[in-house]
Amino acid sequence: MLRPALQIIKTKPGMKIVSSSFLMDCPNRSLGKDGLLVYADCVVMPDPDAEELAQIGIAAAETAKVLCGIEEPKVAFLSFSTKGSAKHPNVTKVQEAVAIAHSLAPDLLLDGEMQFDAAIVPSVGESKAPGSPVAGHANVLIFPDLQAGNIGYKITQRIGGASCFAVLQGLAKPCNDLSRGCSAEDIVNTVAMTAVQAQG
Ligand SMILES: CC(C)(COP(=O)(O)OP(=O)(O)OC[C@H]1O[C@@H](n2cnc3c(N)ncnc32)[C@H](O)[C@@H]1OP(=O)(O)O)[C@@H](O)C(=O)NCCC(=O)NCCS
Repeated sequence: MLRPALQIIKTKPGMKIVSSSFLMDCPNRSLGKDGLLVYADCVVMPDPDAEELAQIGIAAAETAKVLCGIEEPKVAFLSFSTKGSAKHPNVTKVQEAVAIAHSLAPDLLLDGEMQFDAAIVPSVGESKAPGSPVAGHANVLIFPDLQAGNIGYKITQRIGGASCFAVLQGLAKPCNDLSRGCSAEDIVNTVAMTAVQAQG
């Protein structure tokens, strides 16, 4: 399903890659915007490099604004390290992505690298990343690769009890898919979200 969209519709101007966001509607209403968090990328890019990861973060912030009404996206680039607590090439990649995203979108509130708890728990964010503009209050969570992203959204869904909807981002025209097991309600929701994406 993804290949024809990549080959025929292609990316929109200014975007080098297509990726995805999952809109996670969590029972804990203190998270994100009334329980709504955006996770990326959980579907498309198996192993993004630093520049691709930066683009995923910027695209997910746009999705958060357009589809979730999150007026001020706070983007956390996730890792197993917070602000240099661990050293590893995988951590360096996330640090580089943060620097690139800063230069591409200087007005966007974003930070990293940080662990998941530092991103969403205010007390942990304060102690592990003091002074961060997003730590503890992130509403857009960027996973370092597809393994982490796909596992992360399924844990949130199956153990955390969140409802979730996926959308593609970065395409020149909106295009989304449904799984074979989808319900009539899923179809209606996906049509509605695709229509909103078309309105920009
Ligand atoms: C998305 C995916 C199918 C693309 O496969 P690929 O082998 O890299 O792509 P192809 O070689 O078929 O390339 C098709 C075209 O799309 C482009 N392309 C590939 N990934 C792209 C991306 N993320 N954004 C934009 N363009 C992309 C290629 O450059 C190529 O362009 P070209 O025809 O002009 O040369 C592959 O990355 C993938 O399998 N991702 C994981 C999907 C998955 O299993 N998700 C699980 C959760 S549901």
